[in-house]
Amino acid sequence: VKQQIIALLKENIRNIPDFPQPGIQFKDITPLLQNPDTLELTSRVLARPFRKKNIDYVVGLESRGFLFGTNLAQDLHAGFIPIRKPGKLPAETLSATYALEYGNDTVEIHKDAFSEGARVLVHDDLIATGGSAAAATELVEELGGKVVGYSFIIALETLRGTDLLAPGVPVKVLLSL
Ligand code: PRP
Ligand code: MG
Repeated sequence: VKQQIIALLKENIRNIPDFPQPGIQFKDITPLLQNPDTLELTSRVLARPFRKKNIDYVVGLESRGFLFGTNLAQDLHAGFIPIRKPGKLPAETLSATYALEYGNDTVEIHKDAFSEGARVLVHDDLIATGGSAAAATELVEELGGKVVGYSFIIALETLRGTDLLAPGVPVKVLLSL
């Protein structure tokens, strides 16, 4: 992606110090969504690397992975599958639990989300430790899907979250911060 585009996207991500906890710098993508130019541009550059990859489904992680996830799916003429926090999906689900710094988190997917062999792109706004994207990978694979790509707007590089992702699968990150 062109440097000019990267710079424009960067300008529209706001750093909020000490949110949600002291010592955490929150990367706020609401300006990116608010500005019609960056909204359109982000969607377009997210889709670009996956256009010829025969993606059947985009799996988006609740909640900020929903914001660009459906756009991305539509753009790739793929279906959209939500991965949600526990108790939100109404039909039969499969769950994955992963470790946080303190405690655990669980995410769920509908058991009938896709059929075996489906080609899946996992999308989220941001990858930090990689725990949630790794849990998403586990869910997709347990359902017999094949993760063929990862798409993030932002990666917090020092945390090396991409180390937890399926080996050998392309990871596209717009901004490493
Ligand atoms: C944030 C972010 C990613 C996740 C990344 O979501 O949107 O989903 O954390 O962290 P990880 O790589 O360490 O798993 P958050 O839990 O804040 O929820 P939200 O998207 O509903 O705001
Ligand atoms: Mg999230």
